[in-house]
Parts: sequence; C-alpha cells; structure tokens
Amino acid sequence: MATQLNGQFSSRIGFIMAAAGSAVGVGNIWGFPTQAASHGGGAFLLMYAVLIVLLGYPMLLAELMVGRHGKTNPADAMAKLASHSIAKKVAKSIGFISIITATLICTFYSILSGWFISFAISPITEAANLPTATSWLTEFSASRNLVFTLIFIALVILVIRQGVQQGIERWSKRLMPMLILMLIGGSGYILTQPGAMQGLKALFTPDFSMVFDTDVLIGALGQTFFSLSVGTGAMMVYGAYLSQKEDLSKLTAYVTLTDTSVAFFAALMIIPAMYVAQHNGVQIFAEDGSLLNADTLVFTVLPALFDTFSGASHYILAIVFFSLMTIAGLTSAISIVEVPTSYIVEKTTISRERATLLVGATIAILASVIVFNFEALFGLIITLTTERAQPLIALGIAIFLGWVWNRNQLISVIAAQEGVNTNTVFWRIWPVYVKFICPVLIMLIIMQLFF
Ligand code: PHE
Repeated sequence: MATQLNGQFSSRIGFIMAAAGSAVGVGNIWGFPTQAASHGGGAFLLMYAVLIVLLGYPMLLAELMVGRHGKTNPADAMAKLASHSIAKKVAKSIGFISIITATLICTFYSILSGWFISFAISPITEAANLPTATSWLTEFSASRNLVFTLIFIALVILVIRQGVQQGIERWSKRLMPMLILMLIGGSGYILTQPGAMQGLKALFTPDFSMVFDTDVLIGALGQTFFSLSVGTGAMMVYGAYLSQKEDLSKLTAYVTLTDTSVAFFAALMIIPAMYVAQHNGVQIFAEDGSLLNADTLVFTVLPALFDTFSGASHYILAIVFFSLMTIAGLTSAISIVEVPTSYIVEKTTISRERATLLVGATIAILASVIVFNFEALFGLIITLTTERAQPLIALGIAIFLGWVWNRNQLISVIAAQEGVNTNTVFWRIWPVYVKFICPVLIMLIIMQLFF
C-alpha cells in the first residue's frame, strides 16, 4: 500500500500549466459567460473580480499548501492538520466530502465536455453534406449526450493512465497557450462585427442594484471556487506533487491570473457574440430580454460566430476551437479524477491503472443517470456541488488551516519552503487572513441562502 503520492511535476512551468489546466476549462468558457449573461453582466463581473482577490487566491494557496504538506490524498492531508482524534476525524470527513464532490463534479463536467467533442466533429459532417449526422451531433438528445459523455470519460482515463508527467503535464503545456491565443483572437474579431458594442455595454455596465443580489453573490462565489478548482481536493492533490522549493504564493498568483484572464477573454468573446448572433437573426434572448436556454447558450452562440466566416474557414475555426475546448475540459477532468483515484491507490492494494478504471466506470454510470434524467438532475448536481459543497469545503479548509493547525506548525511549514523568502509581509498576513477573514466572508455569503 502506498503511503505517499509519488508522482512529481518535472518543472515549475509543468506545474503551472497543469494547475492552470485544472483551473481553465468548461467553467471559464461555458460557466463564466453563461453566469455573467444571466446575472446582470457587469454586476457579476465586478463581484467575481472582487471574490477572486478576496477568496479565490487565498483559498487556492491554502489548498495547495495543505496538499504539499500532506503529500497524500485530500482526506489524509486534511487529517494531518489536526492532532486530536476528534478533530482528525472531522478534518478527514471534510477531505472525504471533497472526494465525493469531485466525483459528482466529474459527471456533469463530462456531459458538458462531451458537447464540445460533438461540436468539434459536426463541422466535418456538415462539410461532407451529411445533414442527419450533423443534426444528431448538434441537437440536444439523450443518445448524443450519452455517447459523447462516455467518449470523453474514456479519453480522460487514457490520458490519466500515462501518469503525471507523461500524461497531465505534456498535454497541458502544449495546448493551453493555443487556447488562450484563440480566445484573444476571437474576442478581438468579434468586436469588429455589427451588434458587438451592445454586448460590450452589457458586459461592462454594472447594475449596482444587482451587485449584492443573493443569486449574483452565490453564483459568483460558486464560480470563483469552481473556476479555480478550490474545494474539491483537486488542488490538494496537485499540491502533493509539488516540491518544497516552489514559492507557492507566486505559483498561485500565476494560476489565478491565467484562469481569470481566460474567463475574461471568453466573456469578452461570447457575450458580444450573443448580440452579434441576435443581430444576425439567431434567437438568443426571449421577448423580456432574458436568455433562452442558458445551459446550451455557448453552443448556439459559437457556431453562429463561426458562421460569420465564409468558405472553409468557418469549418476549420469551429473544429479547432471546439477541439481546444475539449482539451481544456480534459486537463480539468484529469485533475478531478485524480482526487478519488489518489484515495483508492493509497487506501487499497488496487493498482493505479485499475483505480482509474474503477473511478471512470463509476463516473460513467453516474453521468448516464444524469443524461437520462437531465431536466431533474443536471442543474441540481451543479448547484449542489459548486454552490453548496465547494464553498462549505473551502470553509472547512480555512477553519482547519487557521484554527486547528497549530500556529507554530503552520509557520514552520511556510518557512520550510526552500529558497523562498518567507520573511515578508505577505507570509505574515496570509495565515491571519485565512484564519479570520476567509471563514467570515464565506459564511456571510452562504448565509444569504437562508435569509
Ligand atoms: N476549474 C475547472 C473549470 O473551470 C473545473 C474544475 C472544478 C476542475 C473542480 C477541478 C476541480 O472548468
């Protein structure tokens, strides 16, 4: 039985890419613009930016720190923060809940990522003049959803079986920069199209009456943690693979910046694209100005955007974009699957290969249940995991890091970073901040749900 996670990232850039790969995904390109569009545009953007700084960054750092200290699966890493047996049990349960949460997240995540695969293939059937295949690929149906969800899960398992360096790092390092370039190019292009300015206005004009709206607040909090992969154990596992020599405050800043920029550029592309599409006769908004089919919004808007190109270029653009999105989904899903896998590998005699298969099969079964009960379960699981479980787990981590982890021990863990100057204002303030401010902020926002 392994007692430690023994994979390790081969380089700093490899880790940043992998952690950014976990962070950047469907949440940025599907979740962020959809949330911004349905929660008052600028108001959501403002709250999100504030929450990324006030809670996203400090909590991501906390999770990486706990992971690197524990060098084990999230449940045992959490338990290592406590010394009394009861506290250990509570900490372990929080870690365990994060493992369940990660598994559940992977179900809807695979369904969404499956849509990206089918949209990457549909331009090919369209160009080959196969209308029946094209409509099957692009129209919502249980059969299509099931097939592509399973294909996506199979892809995740294939990549994961190659291990940390060969699998996770190699994929993230090459493809992430391409996605970022494509989003920047796309957001620049869309602004030249008629109707785009109206979208810019919607995105940047905050309706201050909505800034403290419960839906906006909870949505922005959930999106913050979901986008940075906080509160699922994913970053704890990646932290476990990280060497003592790394300055976590900097690495966390790079990951946060990359993730936030991608979300920002995605919104800068997709929200104006919604207005361009509407201008071109595609129905995006209902009579009252609300969004039609928010869940599938991106899949209506993006093809409409690619259609503004003529000739073969719109097929090529669509294939490239949706393929890159699939890969962004893959690098995130890999980090999610690592969570239950790391637990099984450490707790049983099951090999890594088998553990991944077992996790993959469980996710496939759960995801199939959601596919066949889409209306009832899809939104419910998203809300439960991202807007309830993730903030509560983050709250648990903040409390354990701040209040249960012995102060001297925490300081010595911070100081143990080799070659990192920990005698700075930052490292003096951060533990106090996580102890006092983070729990209060998270609780204040969660409490909105009850009043
Ligand atoms: N952060 C990823 C995204 O934005 C999703 C994710 C959530 C990944 C939780 C890992 C853990 O798409």
